[in-house]
Amino acid sequence: MSFTVIEQVPARLNRSELAVPGSNPVFLEKAQKSNADIVFLDLEDAVAPDDKVQARKNIIEALNDLDWSAKTVSVRINGLDTHYMYRDVIDIVEQAGQHLDLIMIPKAGTACDIYALDMLVTQIEAAKGHPNRIGFEMIIETALGMQNVNEIAAASPRNESLHFGVADYAASTKARTTGIGGPNEDYHVLTDKDDAGNRQVHWGDMWHYPITQMVIAARANGLRPIDGPFGDFSDAEGYLAQAKRAATLGCEGKWAIHPSQIELANQAFSPSEKEITKATRILEAMEQAQKEGKGAVALDGRLIDIASIKQAEVMVAAAKQIAALDK
Ligand code: GLV
Ligand code: MG
Repeated sequence: MSFTVIEQVPARLNRSELAVPGSNPVFLEKAQKSNADIVFLDLEDAVAPDDKVQARKNIIEALNDLDWSAKTVSVRINGLDTHYMYRDVIDIVEQAGQHLDLIMIPKAGTACDIYALDMLVTQIEAAKGHPNRIGFEMIIETALGMQNVNEIAAASPRNESLHFGVADYAASTKARTTGIGGPNEDYHVLTDKDDAGNRQVHWGDMWHYPITQMVIAARANGLRPIDGPFGDFSDAEGYLAQAKRAATLGCEGKWAIHPSQIELANQAFSPSEKEITKATRILEAMEQAQKEGKGAVALDGRLIDIASIKQAEVMVAAAKQIAALDK
């Protein structure tokens, strides 16, 4: 271990994070009853400029009038480059901050963006005497944000998670794609010709690198990495494939931009029975090995060692958090 110890943010299930436009009060009420681990009430890109003020009022009402106690609730404010942001923060935190768990900061570009918001939220919480401390979730969705992702992740003790905003990220980096998330047929490898002269096309994952970069910054700062939207909500298989890739790289969850994606995310980011059984057996085998003074042993013909304990513990801890939901 390094002498630098990474403090972990409070454990919070974040398998599915449902996006709900603040402009629609019916959707806000439905979201509160959904199975999403986290709901974010949106003031940013799902809300048209003319609806921003009404959406803010709807969200304040929804936070105050609906019972969010069984859910984690967040509000996505507008970006720091707009004239909506200051009032989003002031009105929402002043009038409903005691019911709010998280603020989602879109297009986070530098550590100073987070610092500025921390200052504002800290003052409002102190002035209002709110008993809770609101956490921050940052969307990494610009070239600038990705370049500064490590500083952003470390910028405030309020920080809880980093989110990959694939749509804005594609726009910001001028990636040649128009879909939201998922693979692109132009991002492929062509095999050499075989004896019959045939070649195969292997699709690659164009998001592998940015997601990995974000996962590293999140984990190096004790935060949760979360994969963002998948636009084609009629393609459940495509969503699941993207979610599994993100989970394999270390993400803890994924956005649902449509209620039908909630269960898919909950499924993709919950360890399976088989994985939990395997992890439990690894822990048992290593406990026995340590009693016998061994650092490594074989289980089912494969080597396991001290690092295997840590991997298995992550799996078992996630399973316990999910099981606690049903109680
Ligand atoms: C999310 O905000 C995105 O841009 O993908
Ligand atoms: Mg975006």
